[in-house]
Amino acid sequence: MKTLEVSGAGFRPYQVAVGSGLLATAAQRIAPFAKGRVAVISDQTVAGLYADALLDGLRGTGAETTLVAVPPGESSKSFGQLEQVMDDLLAFGLDRRDLVVALGGGVVGDLAGLAAALYMRGIDFVQIPTTLLAQVDSSVGGKTAIDTPRGKNMVGAFHQPRLVLADIDALSTLPAKQVRSGWAEVLKHGLICDAPFFDWLAGEGAGGARGDPASLEHAVVRSVEIKSAIVGEDEKEAGKRALLNLGHTFGHAIEAELGFEEAALAHGEAVALGCALAFRFSAREGLCTDDDARRVEAVLKAAGLPTRLSEAGQFDADRLLALMAGDKKAEGGALTLVLARAIGDAFVAKGVAAEPVRAFLRDEGAT
Ligand code: NAD
Ligand code: GLY
Repeated sequence: MKTLEVSGAGFRPYQVAVGSGLLATAAQRIAPFAKGRVAVISDQTVAGLYADALLDGLRGTGAETTLVAVPPGESSKSFGQLEQVMDDLLAFGLDRRDLVVALGGGVVGDLAGLAAALYMRGIDFVQIPTTLLAQVDSSVGGKTAIDTPRGKNMVGAFHQPRLVLADIDALSTLPAKQVRSGWAEVLKHGLICDAPFFDWLAGEGAGGARGDPASLEHAVVRSVEIKSAIVGEDEKEAGKRALLNLGHTFGHAIEAELGFEEAALAHGEAVALGCALAFRFSAREGLCTDDDARRVEAVLKAAGLPTRLSEAGQFDADRLLALMAGDKKAEGGALTLVLARAIGDAFVAKGVAAEPVRAFLRDEGAT
């Protein structure tokens, strides 16, 4: 087990514990932050697997508990579900000294985190991430949000957790597609700023993509170190934090075109495809070598992740470009993309002209 600290100028430091057996001891670890009532927010799938033991443990520490279980899937990141959760917390009688615990993947973490940020103007919350994606990315850094019909994560708040417990054992029940999806975010961290870590993920650690617990544990620890260092410097994404969006501008546009439902690409799969596109575009612009772009593609492929638009569906270059620009009227304007000089050396490129990106997308198979 390893404990890391996330700290920065604008927020109270907190610990992220990564290892085996953390769910079994979660109640004792949470106890210092639970003054009275504890509301565990989860989704129905995760609650069925892990909520009973957690609630029993919490009651054993003297806490009064309730479970709020939302339907699994992205559609729970909605105004309607947020309103229902708030109503459940009010009915339970949670007050400002009480605690919310998010038990689940990124959907639960984002929804419960936003509920905690808003409830009585903000109460404490603890993250217990149960997907690889949530352990390496969404549970750390304080971004919380719901979606609206006009876009993903459009309504949210920065609200840092008091504690994060990332239990590697929880990943044993995760479907293989979800493990691969989280692995894409792990690879992303290597691609951004740590070439030796990327080499390890491509070689000795590659079994993590197929669920090897020892590889997963190291991958989560190193990912949290990388993410927390970036968040510590730039909590509100005024600059450096945007690096974490590597693969996301292409990836989000692809997700938006496909629809964000369960049957479509998982978030990390879209990010993987986005990383492959970002490296190929970087190579085409002469920023990184073709060899780097080919290696990124080969490593993503070996992990079972998509790297070509044709694997995801059929796309229209103008529509993708409009989604990437975040505004249909900005089609002719410039884009902000995360591009790369090499594996482990990503940078935020502002003012990227739309036309070369459109031509690139057409060469990649978009019509
Ligand atoms: P998710 O929360 O929908 O979980 C994926 C599926 O796995 C769900 O069906 C869930 O019920 C199931 N599941 C979760 N844990 C399980 C377990 N241990 N065993 C078996 N099944 C389990 O998806 P996700 O990929 O974790 O998160 C995606 C969300 O995270 C998106 O909404 C995205 O916007 C958000 N996100 C947020 C941030 C951030 O910084 N806040 C960063 C990245 C992604
Ligand atoms: N997942 C991107 C961020 O936390 O900034």
